[in-house]
Amino acid sequence: MALLIDGKAQARALRATVADAVRRLGTHQGLVPGLAVVLVGDDPASQVYVRRKGEHAREVGMRSFEHALPAATSQATLLERIARLNRDPEVHGILVQLPLPAHIDPEAIIHAIDPAKDVDGFHPLNVGALAVGGEGLAPCTPLGCIRLLESHLGELTGKHAVVLGRSRIVGRPLASLLLKKDCTVTVAHSRTPNPAKICRQGDILVAAVGQPGLVQGDWVKAGATVIDVGITRLGEGDSRRLVGDVDAACVSRVAGALTPVPGGVGPMTIACLLHNTLIAACRQHG
Ligand code: GUN
Repeated sequence: MALLIDGKAQARALRATVADAVRRLGTHQGLVPGLAVVLVGDDPASQVYVRRKGEHAREVGMRSFEHALPAATSQATLLERIARLNRDPEVHGILVQLPLPAHIDPEAIIHAIDPAKDVDGFHPLNVGALAVGGEGLAPCTPLGCIRLLESHLGELTGKHAVVLGRSRIVGRPLASLLLKKDCTVTVAHSRTPNPAKICRQGDILVAAVGQPGLVQGDWVKAGATVIDVGITRLGEGDSRRLVGDVDAACVSRVAGALTPVPGGVGPMTIACLLHNTLIAACRQHG
């Protein structure tokens, strides 16, 4: 049976490292990193994520600024709010929770965030920096995937990594991060013929498509390390559950290691957000 990679434990350890660094920054430089999280509307899942981000920021000793705006907020009002946060010296990281209501253009919002405070790594300047292997701020979920992979495999150099999915939030930036780690990278997606055959070539397989249970046992190379980024909510009420892109029951008989859903990539994403906020605060402070 595949070893389960414990994302909760890894996330706890990273939060402890961040908390330690935050304490030292406070003592030696009088700097308290601040994270602003902006939520527009009342999507229940987004509310849960935003609340958790705020709680974890405070737990590691950061300042948390939570901005909950009504669903009818205009794009101009949201842009003004971002401009204010860009100018605020107590705010080092800004995250606008996605998706936004349909009347707001997410591109306009992402472009408006100061790239130095863009802890999501979605601003074109950060996307470009990552694409050329430079030092910007990288998106949190792919960063979490890399940490989980390194915790299990150590060096990633020379591994063949197959990324299933080409989204802006996960697939594309993860491919860039894996290249930076000297992996051989293949990206498969919805238009790839015979994705199972491609996936089977990976020493590493990351599934990030949002299709519950898509990856079956015969999609996976024996002994491969499999990272399941999918989180689809299924069911209602008491039978509500989170389901990944990987059919864990059959894949765990083939893979060497697998991240569970929940308790794998999810907790790492928030821990990496805190780490990005710490990096952003240090850089802004000179
Ligand atoms: N919604 C789902 N994932 C994310 C994320 O990583 N960042 C933001 N801002 N919104 C999201």
